[in-house]
Amino acid sequence: MIHLKDVHKSFGSQHVLDGLSFDVAEGESLVIMGPSGAGKSVILKHIIGLLNPDSGVIEVEGLSVPDLDARSMRGLRRNMGYLFQHAALINWLSVFENIALPLRETTSMSEAEIKEKVGEVLALVHLETANEKFPSELSGGMQKRVGLARALVTDPGIILYDEPEAGLDPEMSHSISRMMLELHQELNTTSVTVTHSWRCARMVADRVALFEKGKLVIAAPPAEILSSPIPRVQEFFNIEK
Ligand SMILES: Nc1ncnc2c1ncn2[C@@H]1O[C@H](COP(=O)(O)OP(=O)(O)OP(=O)(O)O)[C@@H](O)[C@H]1O
Ligand SMILES: [Mg+2]
Repeated sequence: MIHLKDVHKSFGSQHVLDGLSFDVAEGESLVIMGPSGAGKSVILKHIIGLLNPDSGVIEVEGLSVPDLDARSMRGLRRNMGYLFQHAALINWLSVFENIALPLRETTSMSEAEIKEKVGEVLALVHLETANEKFPSELSGGMQKRVGLARALVTDPGIILYDEPEAGLDPEMSHSISRMMLELHQELNTTSVTVTHSWRCARMVADRVALFEKGKLVIAAPPAEILSSPIPRVQEFFNIEK
């Protein structure tokens, strides 16, 4: 479903991805953890084609992402939801219009259908009343949840979450993790989640990966991570737990 093989990416002299390889099976939930600044957000941006690798293979649903033309890219993005680390809402559009945007761009839904669908995802993130507000009128956590609603509004089969629980209070954070788990279990979505929260990872992951120095140190079910004999894995996850 998602296939990365020997991916390299540098920014200037900084080698951020250094032979990164991993696969995510259909319906699988992979969680990527790792030090701040290691390149986790960069990985997600490669999967959705916002960044191109210097070399290596990146395939989603059998298609080589860096080689897609604009039309195929639109098709792929229709089926791929992306929650940006910093919400990335459009400031001059209301919450409703921000969330409706992917529907307007990639479907021919009627206004009534759009209204219903936007209402549905707003309820999922507990923001039913924020419809008419503008991003600048929302708290950071609320913006994050609007970003999440926008990522989910096209019912994508693949979802990339960049720190879905960051900036949320513990109760909301738990509720978002639970929602992610439900999407995964009930709709069989394939997902890659970047998080610093072991609680979130343990809850939503089939496998947790530690990403550091350009590649994965380990990718294994949460229980195996905690009993890993690899010193670096013990060190990192003992701190993060
Ligand atoms: N478009 C870009 N141009 C230049 N450098 C970039 C670009 N995007 C990311 N970087 C650099 O790549 C490195 C990895 O960034 P990235 O945002 O992926 O880190 P991260 O692992 O997501 O960190 P955090 O946990 O803090 O979000 C950083 O040093 C960053 O400055
Ligand atoms: Mg990041």
